[in-house]
Amino acid sequence: MKMERYRVGNPINTESVVVDVPLTEGECGLLGYDYAGKSLSLELSGEDLVYGLGVTTHGMNKRGWVFVSDCADDPVHTEGKRSLYSAHNFFLVQKKESSVGVYIDTPGKVTFDVAFSESDEIKISFEDFDFDLYIFESASPYGVVSGFRSIIGESYMAPKWAFGLCQSRWSYATEKEVEELVESYEKAGIPLDSVCLDIDYMDEYMDFTISDERFPDFENFVKRMKAKNIHLVPIIDAGVKIKEGYEVYEEGLRKGFFCKKEDGKELVAAVWPGRVHFPDFLNKDAREWFGQKYRFLIDKGVDGFWNDMNEPAIFYTEDHLNEVFEKIETYKNRNLDINSFFEFKNLVGTIDNNPADYASFYHDYNGQRINHSKVHNLYGFNMTRAAGEEIKKIAPDKDILLFSRSSFIGMHRYGGIWTGDNCSWWSHLLMNIEQMPGLSMSGFIYSGADTGGFGCDCSKELLLRWTAFSIFTPLFRNHSAAGTRRQEYTAFGDSTDFKNIIGIRYALLPYIYNSFVRAVKENTMYMAPLSFAFPGDDRARNIEDELLLGDSLMLAPVYTQNAKGRFVYLPEDMTFYRLRSASDYDVIPLKKGDHYIDVAINEVPLFVRKDKSLEIGNAAMNTSEVNF
Ligand code: GLC
Repeated sequence: MKMERYRVGNPINTESVVVDVPLTEGECGLLGYDYAGKSLSLELSGEDLVYGLGVTTHGMNKRGWVFVSDCADDPVHTEGKRSLYSAHNFFLVQKKESSVGVYIDTPGKVTFDVAFSESDEIKISFEDFDFDLYIFESASPYGVVSGFRSIIGESYMAPKWAFGLCQSRWSYATEKEVEELVESYEKAGIPLDSVCLDIDYMDEYMDFTISDERFPDFENFVKRMKAKNIHLVPIIDAGVKIKEGYEVYEEGLRKGFFCKKEDGKELVAAVWPGRVHFPDFLNKDAREWFGQKYRFLIDKGVDGFWNDMNEPAIFYTEDHLNEVFEKIETYKNRNLDINSFFEFKNLVGTIDNNPADYASFYHDYNGQRINHSKVHNLYGFNMTRAAGEEIKKIAPDKDILLFSRSSFIGMHRYGGIWTGDNCSWWSHLLMNIEQMPGLSMSGFIYSGADTGGFGCDCSKELLLRWTAFSIFTPLFRNHSAAGTRRQEYTAFGDSTDFKNIIGIRYALLPYIYNSFVRAVKENTMYMAPLSFAFPGDDRARNIEDELLLGDSLMLAPVYTQNAKGRFVYLPEDMTFYRLRSASDYDVIPLKKGDHYIDVAINEVPLFVRKDKSLEIGNAAMNTSEVNF
């Protein structure tokens, strides 16, 4: 594996790379440099496959679309979108006999036009032409990935219990509701390890508070859950409510730890609680201060957190809102025509997550005052870093679960991620499958999507098929939005099929966990495209709906409505396991080539690779019952 580092301009250190790779002078010969146009270009041949860029839309092979690294709170992940919640500037070009990896280390906005404008070129455009460029070359894509991962530090290791099922919904509003949920799973024989607490456990959506009214006996509640081996995982949001008497707000203000505007005053933005200030997570002292606040919940027995709204999501800023109200007045009694109508409509329509708002505040980053828009992509990373670093001090002997919505490369050392607000759409089940390799490449091994979909209503069939895939992702969480059809595994009548499918996850935990640990420790892929292992097989190279899981398994999930099975391509002889439960399955040897496999709605298809074997353990009700 060959690794090189080049520099253009004077980049802001993102702290994503932890190894000092010596700088090579001059330009990298693989790329074209356009200083005036602030862009780089990389030629592609027709055969080249492009993987990576982390959590994005548009397939496993990224050729044919434009991706913008600009962390966005956008819950509508449709095909036209260019940015989701994270910025992972690493991609890999897999040629026939070799692979090249490119990591663009810069905290600002970067656009990757991957053979969209020109079919034989990747064009990388910058707002600021200041970055470190890392190049990795190897005969194998695995070599490129391990080269890249070896310089960004070891990925976060989640506790074992976090490999069990997590049930979530926005929101379980009371202690009683959570207890009833857990009892209903026990009664139905559905395994469970954790329950997420969404924003309603808090008092007025204030971080590090608990509603006395809805969770009156929180400490004992945590204990009662622990006695059943159920872990509670509360949400923490980035914005701190502005409220007299609220300690986190008053202390943060006193210490000067909130982000400030040009005039030195704190930015007033709004999220769930109404007006908030944003902690300056890029400031080391502010990070330490905020991270220490997790102690409040850890002291109460909590051992898991999810960090949210940390792009950061902004409903509006007070300054911009005032301007909008003033402007709206000027449209009153006017004849709104083709232009003025849309201007009027956009006044409110563009008030959230507005670029002008992101450019209106500053960070104190390593002693420098830096405008937020220059380092936007580092915000979520540093929120989770705040938690990760301080939790280690607060509870050095405890393994704590931590995952985030927004991220940048580097955050993978502190926590995992979930892929944000997807929908109960079949296309989003496929997107989940397609997103997994990009996550492994970027080091986010502990990851997964909202199983069943967050927004919209989920059918029993979709939840069964989605669960049959999610049992293989490290983070396995069923989560749904307020107002959607109930999506718990008990909400669709007879839950036997769910119970059996989830039981398979528990029976396979030794393999799943072992593959996870290997991916973390050996900088390898947890889930990989087929082309990684079969680079010379043209059919395998172009498959986007099958995945390799660790060393021994291949997945070919069913992701279409009313399907009774699917076509599958096997790049080598494999053994097809059609599992109805951990103890009821068919074992069918299949030859290399094309097959149609029947997969009933209550079945999980699984393939064991040539010369590999699979041990299927027993279904269990909780990870504490599994020896792994
Ligand atoms: C955001 C999160 C979602 C959560 C909701 C309420 O939309 O992405 O998971 O349920 O906020 O906290």
